[in-house]
Amino acid sequence: MIFEPFSIKNVTFKNRILRSSIGGRTCYYDGTVNPAWKRFEKRFAEQGVAGIISATITVDERRWSPLEYPKLSQDRFVKPIREAVQAVQALGCKYIIQLGDHGYHTQTSLLPQVEDSKSASSGFDLVFGYGNRSSAMTTEEIQQTVQNFAAGARRVREAGCDGLEITASKGYLIHQFLNPATNRRTDAYGGSVEKRFQFLREIVRAVRQTVGNDFLFGIRLSAVDFNYLPVNFRWPVVFPLRHYFMGNGLNETLYYGQELAKLGIDYLHISSGFGFINPTESPGAWPIDEFRLYANATRHLSAKANVRAMLLNALPRTVVRGIFGLGWGYKPAVNADYARTFKQVVGLPVIANGGFQRQDTIEEVLRTGQCDMVGMARPLLANPNLLSLFKQGINEPSNPCSFCNRCSVATVVLPLGCYDRSRFPSQDAMEAQIMWWSGGPEDEELVRRGST
Ligand SMILES: Cc1cc2nc3c(=O)[nH]c(=O)nc-3n(C[C@H](O)[C@H](O)[C@H](O)COP(=O)(O)O)c2cc1C
Ligand code: SF4
Repeated sequence: MIFEPFSIKNVTFKNRILRSSIGGRTCYYDGTVNPAWKRFEKRFAEQGVAGIISATITVDERRWSPLEYPKLSQDRFVKPIREAVQAVQALGCKYIIQLGDHGYHTQTSLLPQVEDSKSASSGFDLVFGYGNRSSAMTTEEIQQTVQNFAAGARRVREAGCDGLEITASKGYLIHQFLNPATNRRTDAYGGSVEKRFQFLREIVRAVRQTVGNDFLFGIRLSAVDFNYLPVNFRWPVVFPLRHYFMGNGLNETLYYGQELAKLGIDYLHISSGFGFINPTESPGAWPIDEFRLYANATRHLSAKANVRAMLLNALPRTVVRGIFGLGWGYKPAVNADYARTFKQVVGLPVIANGGFQRQDTIEEVLRTGQCDMVGMARPLLANPNLLSLFKQGINEPSNPCSFCNRCSVATVVLPLGCYDRSRFPSQDAMEAQIMWWSGGPEDEELVRRGST
């Protein structure tokens, strides 16, 4: 079934594989996409994926995260994105832009600023974001953010995209409102599950009104938050403790899915977990060296970020691994069962995300109706030719993605590409592959030896 077309609304995808969001430093310092962004995205289109979902593109000029990631917070960002989107579409590949606002999970602004702390409620989070504390948004700031999403959505349409996705997952701002551990508001936007959904409800209404009923519009949703993964320290503790340790469970997120269907969205993109990265969305290893790299590169941003870096540097590797590596490990098709539940209960087309690599696994989830499409990121980064291998009947590449998660963390600081040195004959080969991704000097032979 992988190579059977599938339509959602008025958009027909030529097969069932979508390149899932891969954000990286592919912009100029003002957030305008640069040629590397276009070349990076085009590579996946050339290799036959049916569609690409962009990196999370910020709608807030100030909450830019990380640096040199794309922005759509002003009209001037549209033109270069349109040029790249057209180049992707010319290859028969659909392009969907994912919009988001990182809230207090903003990781690297140029310098600290108060807006980076904005969230549903005030609080402390050791692992995510760099601010010492998050701060509660005012009603005016909430309304402004709803307008930011609507304006961003208009720009997505103006950029000639085939569709729009909004991320209500990853622990970003919308998710911070949905999650009962980070939303302790007592006004119209917090408290009951209905009220925690209010912010997303207003965004979806405003966005649908802006883009029109004929435009493909989906939501990326976390099926279960698993707040206790990765190991973190959040303050204050909230009660019931189920809310503190788990966040939203399936009953709550199914309610969100059903409400979203009533509001007229066209598909759900299902992952799980709270925060990027987390073990149920990016199943695999916990990359200690890359975390140290990232923490050291951002330690100047706050006292908390500095202490976080000191802890990661000072504690022995075994201790750091023992604590922060808890719960990490690879599980294939990690969210497929959740995808099926959403498909059955909500009835919308569903994309499943996380941990797909083998052809037989993907065939199985499609054949059994667990999902309609599959979103993939790391295995395509490791083996851009994965779809051609599948076409040749190869079940799994001979040099597969190891799910080491080095790329997921290192690329906040370093260029996009695969960072598992053991997959390459030499460090030069690995670096050539990284340069190849964003269109630097190309050494096809080195790159060829690096992937299957
Ligand atoms: C380098 C890198 C950057 C990513 N950037 C984003 C992003 O900007 N937005 C997003 O929603 N997911 C992002 N993801 C998560 C992927 O879209 C995907 O959900 C995750 O890697 C699990 O899928 P996989 O097992 O196919 O890799 C990123 C993943 C990687 C490896
Ligand atoms: S660094 Fe390479 S092998 Fe490791 S998860 Fe990323 S793409 Fe896969």
